[in-house]
Amino acid sequence: MKPLFSSFLFAAAALALAAAASTGTEPGISFEYHRYDELRKALVSVWLQCPTITRIYTIGESFEGRELLVLEMSDNPGTHEPGEPEFKYIANMHGNEAVGRELVIYLAQYLCNQYQQGNDTIIELIHNTRIHLMPSMNPDGFEKAASQPGEIKDWFVGRSNAQGVDLNRNFPDLDRIVYINEREGGANNHLLQNMKKAVDENTKLAPETKAVIHWIMDIPFVLSANLHGGDVVANYPYDETRSESAHEYSASPDDVMFKSLARAYSMFNPVMSDPHRPPCRKNDDDSSFKDGITNGGAWYSVPGGMQDFNYLSSNCFEITLELSCDKFPNEEMLKNYWEQNRDSLVNYIEQTHRGVKGFVRDLQGSPISNATISVEGIDHDITTAKDGDYWRLLAPGNYKVAASAPGFLTVIKKVAVPYSPATRVDFELESLMERKEEEREELMDWWKMMSETLNF
Ligand SMILES: *[C@@H]1O[C@H](CO)[C@@H](O)[C@H](O)[C@H]1NC(C)=O
Ligand SMILES: *[C@@H]1O[C@H](CO)[C@@H](O)[C@H](O)[C@H]1NC(C)=O
Ligand SMILES: [Zn+2]
Repeated sequence: MKPLFSSFLFAAAALALAAAASTGTEPGISFEYHRYDELRKALVSVWLQCPTITRIYTIGESFEGRELLVLEMSDNPGTHEPGEPEFKYIANMHGNEAVGRELVIYLAQYLCNQYQQGNDTIIELIHNTRIHLMPSMNPDGFEKAASQPGEIKDWFVGRSNAQGVDLNRNFPDLDRIVYINEREGGANNHLLQNMKKAVDENTKLAPETKAVIHWIMDIPFVLSANLHGGDVVANYPYDETRSESAHEYSASPDDVMFKSLARAYSMFNPVMSDPHRPPCRKNDDDSSFKDGITNGGAWYSVPGGMQDFNYLSSNCFEITLELSCDKFPNEEMLKNYWEQNRDSLVNYIEQTHRGVKGFVRDLQGSPISNATISVEGIDHDITTAKDGDYWRLLAPGNYKVAASAPGFLTVIKKVAVPYSPATRVDFELESLMERKEEEREELMDWWKMMSETLNF
């Protein structure tokens, strides 16, 4: 009788603990699936709860007319503050990969709750970062996947958009362009410059893809992650192989930083970073996984993906997160996935504050937008935003960073970069006109002196 009693006590204590964990750690989050209308309501209720730091907007519509909703979190929602970096999470581009969609909603609820409770880490993060959260890039696919009866969902139903387009193969294939440029010379960044019209007229691009392309090109995003399911790993560029073979390590010029970013996600996720985690399925080839991260091409080549498109068309660095073996797990599992990923999701946003950042201005203090920031030894430039502000993600080390713009003299600075926070480096560029004027004045002075000395 005694052992029975004590085991009863133990069970009761365990139950109490479990209850404390579920109500104590994350009050205000209900771990359930959100269909389209519920997703909308969930975002609206975050906005109602935290109106001063949130805004809801839409970047366009899906093929079937559902809104591509974004919740923005910032101390000044709706505006780009000069010097403040921008971040995005984009989930559920494969409509049947449902975990990321829910985690992005829970993250919004968590950030709002913690902000209100005075959590300094979260307050600082929201005050210094403009965060954009898109729970679903493929709401049509999700509705199709979720409409299947029963708890076990087909592996493919709802993956594509309503036209049958796989959105993560639908982006302009900029890898092929940059691989040619690597051999023959040519740009290594912003490959879609001045081609917005061509994008709009391209009939092969799905409406969801077009909307996201505009979003990527219009907002000066620094960092991003694209949330998927079906495996557990943080995947970094390049996703498409140089040789077009199915598996081949495909380093980008920022390989060191991308590894560090992927690791910043995986290290806080106990399942992802577990070296002894068995593969999701017995025959899966996980040989390219290490510390919960993998190069995209080394795993399997993906042409036309969103991750590489971000890097090659804009300043934004994006990685792809695979969050769960199951694409559409039972609802009871959602809390578990949140707990596995919560710290990773927050820590990854904090990576926005690494490397070098600052402003590029002329000698009168006016901002120079679209100036080029290049780093010696890394063949990938980034550009300044509208206010002359820039963010150049870099792994720890010593660098030579150059700022240049047409009509200005280039300035090069030596910079020591720690792990974080970002080192502030401002540039003042002298315009070639000013330089000519200076030279003319110097010549005049010299001429005056000469004529006075020689008395003519
Ligand atoms: C504040 O937020 C951070 C980041 O999510 C978390 O690690 C920490 O536990 C939170 N602090 C409290 C007191 O909840
Ligand atoms: C930005 O600068 C590049 C090169 O300096 C130029 O080709 C491009 O047209 C500029 N873009 C805009 C939007 O001004
Ligand atoms: Zn996917």
